[in-house]
Amino acid sequence: MRIVVLTGAGISAESGLKTFRDGGGLWESYAIEEVATPEAFHANPELVLNFYNERRKQLFDKGIKPNAAHFALAELQKQYPWQVTLITQNVDNLHERAGATKVIHMHGELLKMRCEQCGNVSLQEKDISLEDQCTKCLQRKCLRPHIVWFGETPLALADIQVSLHSCDVFLSIGTSGSVYPAALLVKMAKDLSNAYTVEINTNPTENGHFFDKHLQGSASELVPKFIEQLIQDKFYE
Ligand code: OAD
Repeated sequence: MRIVVLTGAGISAESGLKTFRDGGGLWESYAIEEVATPEAFHANPELVLNFYNERRKQLFDKGIKPNAAHFALAELQKQYPWQVTLITQNVDNLHERAGATKVIHMHGELLKMRCEQCGNVSLQEKDISLEDQCTKCLQRKCLRPHIVWFGETPLALADIQVSLHSCDVFLSIGTSGSVYPAALLVKMAKDLSNAYTVEINTNPTENGHFFDKHLQGSASELVPKFIEQLIQDKFYE
């Protein structure tokens, strides 16, 4: 049996990170077209760099920690590394901090930057400044967050598609189902593998009609329970 898990901002909400579209979410305070598109970066790179510098800094706040949902998924992946694919839309590092060994970050990672000149991707824990030099091609004014902005192609789509070709259970956690192509992965899991599809969310979602089962409630409570049940049902055999 194989399970593909897709997580969204809701799984990190109880860890202290704001979601995007809930009341008080990030897109209430910032306009997507000003901070999260390639056009915004070229028009006002400092504003965009600052937006992501703030998000990156926040990951080091003492209060920001993985929660029970991150830990339960990490444990499942450790026990059944070949049967669990963990895909996240999140750019935080909470899955890894909980111990997940392989995470597909389809929307990029805050702790990485990329050179627009030579394409080099490197780890970055500090702020990115326009004046920083790429360590590979030595150009300046070319470093950007390794984040997939609106209008750009998500990462690792080929790996994601492979996982959906042999997927028995598709589990979506804490995502509003409003950003594509992530919102279509559930349908692909159905079309390609006739997977059993489950979502865990505190609220109804935009792509909810694609799911066989809806578990309404918080990720930190329901994810560990769901995984315990899955193991009891011997899904891995
Ligand atoms: P959203 O902010 O759109 O949705 C968060 C979802 O989490 C909502 O459906 C909430 O109901 C749910 N939620 C909140 N707290 C929860 C909890 N404790 N337990 C379970 N569910 C909870 O975030 P995403 O769907 O992840 O992309 O957003 C998708 C993409 O849109 C992001 O990756 C980002 C954003 O723009 C880029 O920046 C490219």
